[in-house]
Formats: sequence, structure tokens, C-alpha cells
Amino acid sequence: MTDLVKVIELKKLRPRRGVAVRVQDIEVAVFLIGEQVHVIENLCPHQHIPVLADGELEGNILTCPMHGWQFDVTSGSCVHASGGLRTFPVQIVKGDVMIPMPEEEKPSWW
Ligand code: FES
Repeated sequence: MTDLVKVIELKKLRPRRGVAVRVQDIEVAVFLIGEQVHVIENLCPHQHIPVLADGELEGNILTCPMHGWQFDVTSGSCVHASGGLRTFPVQIVKGDVMIPMPEEEKPSWW
């Protein structure tokens, strides 16, 4: 069983407003949409800039504030291209948003 790690208290989230949080060695973006919490890596794959928490949400679609790439935060998939974002399964434990301990992602040439 994978260890869970705390990301943020659920009560600190505001509907449809992203929050960037450092968890272990990576930065994640947390979104509250309706009753659901979604956690994605904060790094935009376009230019590898950690800005997605500042993106704008329309429905489930997040638009990167830098150059407008769009992603579905529920699946991580990129709207206009193949590939997408790293997503994390969320559990709420005693009012805290928890995800499995993220492992450092190895580069593709590893
Ligand atoms: S850095 Fe996100 S679209 Fe360019």
C-alpha cells in the first residue's frame, strides 16, 4: 500500500481557484470543482513552467496563463495535443487533501 501525504487542508480551497503546493520534490496544483478535489502537477508541459495553479478554469478545462494550452484537470489530458499532465488520485482524510507519496519523475531518457 502506498503511503499518503498531506497536500493541503480542504477548508483552505476556494471553488475553482487553483493553489500551488510543494509536496516532496514536486509542485502540484489543487483545484476544487463542485465537491471534487483534483490534484495535477503544476508544471505546464509546453515550456516546463510551474504556473498551472494560476490558470483559468472553464468547466473542467484549465487554460495555462502563459500561452493558452488547455488541459482537462479531471484526466490530465491535453485538449489540443496528445499527452498531458501528471494527475494524482485524491483522498480526503480528516479534512485534509491527501495523495499517494509522489515519486520523482524520471526523464524519458532515463
Ligand atoms: S507554458 Fe503553458 S502554454 Fe506555454
